[in-house]
Amino acid sequence: MWTTGVCIAIAITAFLVAYIRLAFRTRRNNEPPYVAGHFLWGSGVEFSQNVVLFLHKSQKQLGDIFTFRVLNKYITIIMDPHCYEDFNKERNFDFAPMVAKVNRNIFGFTVKDSFGLITYASKTVKGKHLRSSMKIFTRNLQDSLEELMKTNDTHASNCNVEADGNTIDWSRESLRTMMSKTLFTAIFYTAFGHSADPSGEEKVKDFHPQVFDKNFQNFHKVFNYLWIGLPRRLFPKAAESYNIMCQLLNHHELLQRNEVSDFVKFSIEYMLQVGEKDEDIMGHTLVYLHVQYNTVRLAYWCVYKMVEQPRVLMDLEMELSKAIEEKREDGEETVAFTLNEINKLPLLDSFLKETLRMYGGAVMIRYCTDDTEFKMPNGQKYAVRKGNMVAMYPPTTHMDPEIFKDPEAFKHDRFVNATFYKYGKELKNPLAPFGSLCVARQMAPLQVKWFLVNLINSFSLELPEGEKTEPKTECYGHEILPPVNDVQVHFRVKEGAPVLAYSD
Ligand code: HEM
Repeated sequence: MWTTGVCIAIAITAFLVAYIRLAFRTRRNNEPPYVAGHFLWGSGVEFSQNVVLFLHKSQKQLGDIFTFRVLNKYITIIMDPHCYEDFNKERNFDFAPMVAKVNRNIFGFTVKDSFGLITYASKTVKGKHLRSSMKIFTRNLQDSLEELMKTNDTHASNCNVEADGNTIDWSRESLRTMMSKTLFTAIFYTAFGHSADPSGEEKVKDFHPQVFDKNFQNFHKVFNYLWIGLPRRLFPKAAESYNIMCQLLNHHELLQRNEVSDFVKFSIEYMLQVGEKDEDIMGHTLVYLHVQYNTVRLAYWCVYKMVEQPRVLMDLEMELSKAIEEKREDGEETVAFTLNEINKLPLLDSFLKETLRMYGGAVMIRYCTDDTEFKMPNGQKYAVRKGNMVAMYPPTTHMDPEIFKDPEAFKHDRFVNATFYKYGKELKNPLAPFGSLCVARQMAPLQVKWFLVNLINSFSLELPEGEKTEPKTECYGHEILPPVNDVQVHFRVKEGAPVLAYSD
């Protein structure tokens, strides 16, 4: 008993000494200034409440580069967006340890050769692979939108609204549910294909987008806690959902399905080749589905902004109608668009960028692998210490009034033919919601644009009175911020709308 007490006392003392040594280090020559934080948790509280406000405030006090502490971790922040290119070129700023931490803490797996895997798999979301996967995606999306039309048929009149004395039959749905039934479902089948056995979907009815969606909702609620290292078993509901999803993602069965995406197929094959364990392969496949939630959240905000500001919806509808009319011959039922044509619609493009600017929450965070000298655009050099984390935080640029006038205002045409400046010099990358490394920075916006044009082509949409939401600022750090609450939307099928088809 006495020995146990001594051991505990020694362990606590050793922990406190280590903590104090780490938490109270002195600033060395040429290191960036330090934010004065609480002696125990540093800037942890302000940081977790609203990162953007905290960083803007510290920038005003300390300049464009500074270091702050959260508990015993030091993070050096580079605020000048002109540094984007040099930050990405610096070899000592390594992303791999950050990815490994997310994989280990949240998804409970490790990858022996993560660099090889990402290099290999990222080829499958570009070029010819991107075109073939978009072709499959557009078909899956068409199917899921047709399902929504059927809902509209059966649920029509469930909500009669007087407009200018006329009664309109709207269907009503939560926006989150609408996104799940349409875009998420299309993404799910594009990733994991369909059962090879025609009656197979029945046999594997748990392998269904809504089953995953429900379980992901439980899992995502505790995401931040898992990230900081709390064990999954502390959250039994999330742990159960995690287990259900991993069991469903058996890669031997996945490879038997038709039209499994190249990303999933290539990753599984690569991991099998290099001898990764079964549970690590399943964890990796789960991450692939998890990252697609960013695309769904982005589309969520787009639809919300369109219905919240009817002017935005009207302008986008006009741009699309014009593009359709230019292509449609003699009232054809189907009008085909290439990806490039959809991608280049100027207002849609600007609208998507503005949504990314306002609702993107991503951080570009790296581990500093060696003592490094970093040169700022004004020529001043700073020492970044080995073992620090070092980051750029795009949302601080996105909310900078010098770069984006009235940053709190949503202006759907803000990016049409626009250039942006900081310190009088044009910015090469004013918008960086995908950081520099996201492999889906082409694919995700294309999927959202295709979803939006199809949605507004086929449905009228409206926000019922009193429905309102906003982004959850405590979630800064997530690639796209979640809403604080869900909203209801009204929708109804547009009669006589053409079908928009994918053309190579
Ligand atoms: C709106 C949608 C998305 C946003 C805003 C987004 C954002 C990001 C960001 C900010 C990073 C970190 C980049 C950096 O630190 O430089 C990242 C990394 C990554 N993203 Fe995305 N992402 C999205 C969708 C997707 C999708 C659909 C995929 C699926 C293929 C994906 C795959 C990845 C991968 C594999 C990485 C890690 C790359 C590496 O390890 O080098 N992302 N993403």
